[in-house]
Amino acid sequence: MRVALLLGGRSGEHEVSVMSARSVFGALLEGGFDVVCVGITREGHWVFIEEPESFFENGYGEVTVDLGPSCYILPDPLRPGIWVNGFNVYEASDESVGVSAESVHDDVNAKVHELVHEPVQESMDESVGRVHVSMDGSRVRPEGIRISQAGAGARVDVDVVFPVLHGTFGEDGTVQGLLELSGIPFVGSGTLASAICMDKDTTKMVLSRHGIPCVPAITVERWRWQTQRDALLEEICDQADFPVFVKPSASGSSLGVSKVKDRSGLDSAIDNAFLYDLKALIEPSQEGALEIECSVLGNEKPVASVPGQIIPSREFYDYEAKYLDRSTRLVIPAPLDDVLADRVKAVAIDAFRAAGCSGLARVDFFVYPDTGELYVNEINTLPGFTEVSMYPKLWEASGLPYAQLVARLIDLALERKRTSQRHVRRVDAGGSV
Ligand SMILES: Nc1ncnc2c1ncn2[C@@H]1O[C@H](COP(=O)(O)OP(=O)(O)O)[C@@H](O)[C@H]1O
Ligand SMILES: [Mg+2]
Repeated sequence: MRVALLLGGRSGEHEVSVMSARSVFGALLEGGFDVVCVGITREGHWVFIEEPESFFENGYGEVTVDLGPSCYILPDPLRPGIWVNGFNVYEASDESVGVSAESVHDDVNAKVHELVHEPVQESMDESVGRVHVSMDGSRVRPEGIRISQAGAGARVDVDVVFPVLHGTFGEDGTVQGLLELSGIPFVGSGTLASAICMDKDTTKMVLSRHGIPCVPAITVERWRWQTQRDALLEEICDQADFPVFVKPSASGSSLGVSKVKDRSGLDSAIDNAFLYDLKALIEPSQEGALEIECSVLGNEKPVASVPGQIIPSREFYDYEAKYLDRSTRLVIPAPLDDVLADRVKAVAIDAFRAAGCSGLARVDFFVYPDTGELYVNEINTLPGFTEVSMYPKLWEASGLPYAQLVARLIDLALERKRTSQRHVRRVDAGGSV
């Protein structure tokens, strides 16, 4: 079983994604999976990472173009796999094909060149055996990549894609759309659920419709802010009790989020939120509430982990508290009585279902233990996934260790693909509909 990890990406959470992918990569290797890594640079360029071990070991925080040749996933179900661009095809490893390393090397390169110049000769099923792809012939990895020719490139077959990407262009349905079109099974939610959960304003609409309590918010669109700033400020101050939280509707890792104590800070906080999105939310600060997170796993029969609590080292769980300051604490399980913990789990599953999630999601709450009130803050469809991240930690505390969790996600991706109802039915032009 070969898994392709997608990592890096164009969002502000590029490094976080690399850190998550490093842990997933290790667990997959441990579990006996064959793994290939596709890095996405901050500019959006896709790179076939030739030596993922050294990339991860060397503590690289960032995907760059020098890690390997360009590669692509095509939106064409007849051409699945990772298409490695170019002319870097080396050495056979599959003896059953009955050709020497050298002859495959020459053969493939000759054919690739030929096809570049004669694209009409393209034929996708013509496999020439199992070979390795590398920028440099002396380096041979990963094992057993199959190459076939179609256009100017070599195809690496993969069984599942795990997009270990956070935020915009990774967690928001865009990459999921490409993967849906490619026909390759992938870990996590599909296009719609990913897009719903990326946008906090839309998440609130969908969850409220299902009777799930959410933190209330005033939504401001950028065009209104640009044209009616003073009237909006009036409106917000009339409706909101300070302190408030101002945040972009679609962002992540607390980028663009600020806590505003009084009217004087509102203007710049809203401007700041609009650096990340076209919609901003203004929410009452949930003073005195516990920040509780719950991991959900599954497709049509999702299950919830024990809830955990975040105790930020700073005034709120901002970017520094999340990734730079080690004194933020995760309390697992959260200090909630059984009734309240069960309610968090039940609401987490309801929210997962309401948004149409699959595979995994972390549902984040504000909970008031004294009154039993709880409000969903947001749903993360590709939550942080390092070994010390909340999502896997909660599963570990619930009896599912990291490596097994990763293997389970691969199974769920395959199951989702098998049971997907999105078949395209052909309508016969001559027949009645
Ligand atoms: N309404 C709120 N009340 C209190 N704290 C909040 C509120 N909204 C956000 N926060 C704080 O800001 C952090 C980041 O906000 P969040 O809405 O989770 O955005 P992100 O998607 O960037 O994680 C939260 O973890 C929490 O600490
Ligand atoms: Mg959050």
